[in-house]
Amino acid sequence: MKPIQAGLLGIGTVGSGTFEVLKRNQEEIRRRAGRGIEITMVADLDVARARAVVGDGVKVVADAREVIANPDIDIVIELIGGYGIAKALVMEAISAGKHVITANKALLAVHGTEIFAAASQRGVMVAFEAAVAGGIPIIKALREGLSANRIQWIAGIINGTTNFILSEMRGKGLDFDVVLKEAQRLGYAEADPTFDIEGVDAAHKATIMSAIAFGIPVQFNKAYIEGITKLSATDIRYAEQLGYRIKLLGITKRVAKGIELRVHPSLVPAKRLIANVEGAMNAVVVHGDAVGTTLYYGKGAGSEPTASAVIADLVDVTRLHTADPHHRVPHLAFQPDAMSDVAVLPMSEVVTSYYLRLRVADEAGVLAQVTGLLAGRSISIDAVLQREADEVGGEGATSTDLIILTHDTREGTMNEVLEQLQALPSVLAPIVRIRKEELN
Ligand code: HSE
Repeated sequence: MKPIQAGLLGIGTVGSGTFEVLKRNQEEIRRRAGRGIEITMVADLDVARARAVVGDGVKVVADAREVIANPDIDIVIELIGGYGIAKALVMEAISAGKHVITANKALLAVHGTEIFAAASQRGVMVAFEAAVAGGIPIIKALREGLSANRIQWIAGIINGTTNFILSEMRGKGLDFDVVLKEAQRLGYAEADPTFDIEGVDAAHKATIMSAIAFGIPVQFNKAYIEGITKLSATDIRYAEQLGYRIKLLGITKRVAKGIELRVHPSLVPAKRLIANVEGAMNAVVVHGDAVGTTLYYGKGAGSEPTASAVIADLVDVTRLHTADPHHRVPHLAFQPDAMSDVAVLPMSEVVTSYYLRLRVADEAGVLAQVTGLLAGRSISIDAVLQREADEVGGEGATSTDLIILTHDTREGTMNEVLEQLQALPSVLAPIVRIRKEELN
């Protein structure tokens, strides 16, 4: 059988890796897919650079629409990114009857519902393994490997840039701004790292996993998002003294009232495997009722790791493209007419535990005032840590840090108590609140 032909839109880091790996492993890939897979056309605004990557045997054009219009192309691989032109091209490719493979998490998290509906109507596949956690086959695991399970929760380190920064902050005792500059100098963080450090990239990925895990529409606008920019080395150090690491987690959870979907820094017990995922690596923990807790670990970005996911999609699409569209794996794991409308909960309804750091006057009765307010709202304390004032502020200091770990409580209640605590005259600085996940 003649090879299936794919066209690539955008040949940057991931596109180059895809081209290279496909060429290098073409025989293995052919044996898996049942026929050869070739990228025969590439569109990139920088035609000369694209030509340098792909050599002479591949048609290179500047206009992506030429790829979509080519009747020999069965699969369009979108690696442009963003929701602007990428969205228009994906929709045009679908309406031209092409299967689409994309690594574009932002596009799917925000416009996935529209894109998947159009694809189902046209009878084509939209595959997106590379959109979440790069080389880790987490979409495949959630959508197929775990399909026996009622999935209960997912917690993932799904942004390598922030995990690198947090690892450096912990390892070297440095503050966020210093490490960010170093990460940019080394090329780990983008010149504009906003999406990474503010948690937006992780929220895109968590949104996609949430939809697949629970059979709900993608709802990025319902995700609670908090990045790592306000974290200090002090809190990382205190967390460590209490037996925890701080990680930026993407969390989605099924609870009685609905679905939690949130990204924020979290204390995680240092003994959990995921707490020991360091540097730019990614890891996702999935808990299903039958399988229990499973962990997926690997590189979440980079040329060939992400290409590995793109090519896995190419193999899947090649295997299934002659299959009856109704018998393919559904885009979001559940059949389109069996999706659930269970609500994503507002953050105030989320129940979790907390790390609080209060800078307090070192005088009699302060601890009693603080614990009294917590007790007044039935917030149970799990642990308290207080260092001598001298140790925190130097000799003669009159204030100190009071660290409290709480048991589970409703976020709305915690917000109210935090306001009361902040108003105490003995609380001398803005209170630091970081959520805590036991992941057991
Ligand atoms: N910027 C992402 C990260 C990689 O740092 O993990 C692409 O999703």
